[in-house]
Amino acid sequence: MKKYAIILAAGKGTRMKSKRDDISKVSFPILETPLVKCVLYSLEPLGLEEIVTVVGHGAKASEAIVKDHSKVVYQLEQKGTGHAIMMAAPVLEGKEGITLITCGDTPLLTSKTLQNLIDYHLNNGMDMSILTGILENPKGYGRIIEEDGQVKAIREQKDCSIEENAIKVINAGVYVFDNKKLFDCLPLLSTENAAHEYYLTDLVGIFNKKGYKVGQMPCEDFDETLGVNDRVQLARAGEILRDRINEGLMLSGVTIIDPKNTYIGPKVKIGADTVIYPGTHIYGDTVIGEGNTIGPDTYLSNLKIGDRNKVIYSHIVDSEIRNDAHVGPYFRARKGALIMDHAHIGNFNEVKNSTFGEASKCAHLSYIGDSNIGKDVNIGCGTIIANYDGVNKFHSEIKDHAFIGSGTLIISPVTVGESAMTAGGSTITNDVPGHAMAIARERQTNKEGFADTFKQKALDKKNKK
Ligand code: UD1
Ligand code: CA
Repeated sequence: MKKYAIILAAGKGTRMKSKRDDISKVSFPILETPLVKCVLYSLEPLGLEEIVTVVGHGAKASEAIVKDHSKVVYQLEQKGTGHAIMMAAPVLEGKEGITLITCGDTPLLTSKTLQNLIDYHLNNGMDMSILTGILENPKGYGRIIEEDGQVKAIREQKDCSIEENAIKVINAGVYVFDNKKLFDCLPLLSTENAAHEYYLTDLVGIFNKKGYKVGQMPCEDFDETLGVNDRVQLARAGEILRDRINEGLMLSGVTIIDPKNTYIGPKVKIGADTVIYPGTHIYGDTVIGEGNTIGPDTYLSNLKIGDRNKVIYSHIVDSEIRNDAHVGPYFRARKGALIMDHAHIGNFNEVKNSTFGEASKCAHLSYIGDSNIGKDVNIGCGTIIANYDGVNKFHSEIKDHAFIGSGTLIISPVTVGESAMTAGGSTITNDVPGHAMAIARERQTNKEGFADTFKQKALDKKNKK
């Protein structure tokens, strides 16, 4: 049985009250993950043949997010959820199999729930299956009208009679259809309703007339069906997802000291016995090994970290830290930093596009850009590798066991040889041979007694005025 999916993501999201037209509602992020990306993630394990995303408002933003994971079709005018599905006809019409329909603004549905709905559909020989929930306050949702296990209709709130309005079983907006029947029946939809739209939900009535089987499956955890329509719901969805991810990690052996104050994205992997301190954010495709200490107040994104490292008060992106290293407090690494085993990088250092070698040290206040730092190198306080002349970037090499004196300015490109030294305060513009000592600064002169003379002169000048 081939399985397909359609994600509805063309709506405007008026209630987000954004003044920008280059973003779409489904591109708003929770835990740095666009809403529609969360939906794609939940579809990943379902073994789908094809995913089609219907985009419209802010189409470019939505398309950029989904295009690597799904086919994209345009709904240029938004004439309702039924109309949106019609846009997928060129891709899916006439295909044997089943189609899951879900919304790009519903980021919390789990793969498990979606799989359950598919199983329900197949096991009960359904032609259409609807995910439902029971809500004390069903305002805004379509109501489920059921008779003897067959769903007879979904009535949108705007079209409800007083009795129907009181029904608490609601449509969560997620469906599984027999794909052929879905597309065969779509042309039968009309806009004769309160909103003058093509309602996808009207297919229930049409399926009933055709004698097709329509059933509903309640969603165990209704939080999963939360739709994001405004920024209050956006924050709420972020909170629910955060709690879910943190709980999963804690149950798998990660210590999170303050889970309400720790933010970890859905794709992050963390090994057992890693301890995460409060105020830490970990996003993107970050993979963290075992026994690390991370935080407090640390931001990590797209980072690979091995085992037993300490990362304290730091901001690190698109980089890698191997094992047993110690970085921070206040370490910053930008794209392409590779910190090798047992390295020690202390407070207020920045590393970019550089390898920092095994057991090397850089205890305070340095910038290392576009360089290779070898093994067991000591970088003195306040060292700057000047890698940019305003036009081009240049590369420097500092070989194993070198010792860079405090306040050294290395004007790239330069090679400092193995076991070489630079004298503190040097400006290094030429290569330094291995085992040499480079001194590149003015020699000091002392003028005896001149400090007193200088001060007296200054005072005299002031008193004259
Ligand atoms: C819809 C259902 C309602 C259900 C609710 C669950 C219909 C008619 N109603 O109502 O029964 O209880 O979801 O959340 O389907 N979209 C498009 N193109 C359009 C219109 C909508 O792509 O022309 C997309 C939206 O971006 C959104 C989704 O479809 O992702 C749902 O549309 P929305 O207008 O939010 O429907 P609801 O009024 O919430
Ligand atoms: Ca909605």
